[in-house]
Amino acid sequence: MTRDELLASLTADASTEAAQAIVQLAVDYFREASAGEGAVSTRTPPRDLAARFDEPLPILGLPLDAVAQRLRDDVVADANRLSHPMYVGHQVSPPLPVAVWTDAVISALNNSQAVREMSPASTHVERQVIRWMCGLTGFGEGSGGNFTSGGTEATLTALLAARGRLMPDAWQDGVGASPPLVLCGAHAHYAVSRAVGIMGLGVRQVIAVPSDGYRMDARQVAPLLRRLRDEGRRVLAVVATAGSTATGAFDDVETIADACEQSGTWLHVDAAHGGSALFSETHRARLRGIARADSLAWDPHKMMLVPLAAGVVLMRDATRLDAAFAQQAPYLFHQREGEPSYDMGPRSFQCSRRADAVKVWATILRYGASGVASFYDHLCALTSTFHAMVMAHPRFEALHLPETNILCFRHLGANGAGPAAAAQGSVAAPLDVDEINRLARERYNDSGDGWITSTLLDGCRVLRVTIINPRTTEDHLQRVLEGIDRIALELAQG
Ligand SMILES: Cc1ncc(COP(=O)(O)O)c(C=O)c1O
Repeated sequence: MTRDELLASLTADASTEAAQAIVQLAVDYFREASAGEGAVSTRTPPRDLAARFDEPLPILGLPLDAVAQRLRDDVVADANRLSHPMYVGHQVSPPLPVAVWTDAVISALNNSQAVREMSPASTHVERQVIRWMCGLTGFGEGSGGNFTSGGTEATLTALLAARGRLMPDAWQDGVGASPPLVLCGAHAHYAVSRAVGIMGLGVRQVIAVPSDGYRMDARQVAPLLRRLRDEGRRVLAVVATAGSTATGAFDDVETIADACEQSGTWLHVDAAHGGSALFSETHRARLRGIARADSLAWDPHKMMLVPLAAGVVLMRDATRLDAAFAQQAPYLFHQREGEPSYDMGPRSFQCSRRADAVKVWATILRYGASGVASFYDHLCALTSTFHAMVMAHPRFEALHLPETNILCFRHLGANGAGPAAAAQGSVAAPLDVDEINRLARERYNDSGDGWITSTLLDGCRVLRVTIINPRTTEDHLQRVLEGIDRIALELAQG
């Protein structure tokens, strides 16, 4: 293409009509998926999908219309449809349209949050959203934070800040031969051990505090910290979880904070999932004690229903973030000693960074804190209803009471008898219950009718839903149960 042709293509592609060709794909997707039309996930086998995209590097470009057509036929057509009310799978949101459209504006502006001079308006948007979130957390003057790519980066950032406090020379000298320990619950997200591995502490330094139910047994933290101190072991941080991945359980942050304060140990709370409960008058109490945490991971891209990516790390004392990344970069960071700086890059793992805060800000403007709370409350209430439906069913059992919008449950096999009756010979069970649940989930998802997840609890294969779509109703959930029951019975009866 000549330069003139390239410039003409820029002008043409920036027109309303051209934008329409692409944006309409999202509009059509929202309309169809929200109405529950079509399958929830693709039935095209992975090999065929791989073959579809296996093509030589295109040398010549296509008109935008043709690109839109390929997007529609090759990508949208076989995507998982999270906005379908029968999608009750992972903790990834069916995104709010306001945040999706704002995402396009963020991309158009492409202002990097690395330094204020690159993002003169959105730097302040981010700082304000962080202030709001610190306020909801109960963090006062001197608190702060940063947007991250998600909970994993937020927890890494928090543990780096904790390392900066315990081992101020570690950035320069490394962690040495006897690295400190990190305590977390047995059900903590892998983000914790991943951070420990990345930091060079060695994942053997992660100590899993035993569970009480599916949460950390908070009463064990103080004696454990005392014993470790008596043994001369240093502890970098205790990581509590507020809304665990598997069951949505909330650790008792208040009791864990007592133990951390007594021993002077950094308390980080992984509230990637449950942090949004802070908007809700009904659910806020589940995070009691959160204001005493040193740091917090909180993902707006989960329960605030914004599209990926939007994570946040908050610190009670924002200056601690400075120790997380002690980086000099004269080509970018121009802060002078003693002068105020609005730059967020020195406190971020990322250099170039999207202004994801803007879509969170737009969401809060659109719905207000009360609207965000209403979404959260509604999804949790519906999950309680689902729990009752599961318990009332003769062939399902729930593994726990829901504390948020996550529920683990399982099919018990034919007659609801489970493996015990099969072992006594009263039920012919060619497959054990674990296998029935594993296969039932797989086949149910393959059917395209709905989409659920599964996990292991106490060594058993269980089914798991995250009810995260505000359009999902009791009727949809009844259909999920019936669909899985039908498949599980076929499997159980051989
Ligand atoms: C409790 C918890 N922490 C951390 C994460 C990781 O968050 P992200 O995927 O945003 O990095 C998750 C994700 O499911 C989670 O449930």
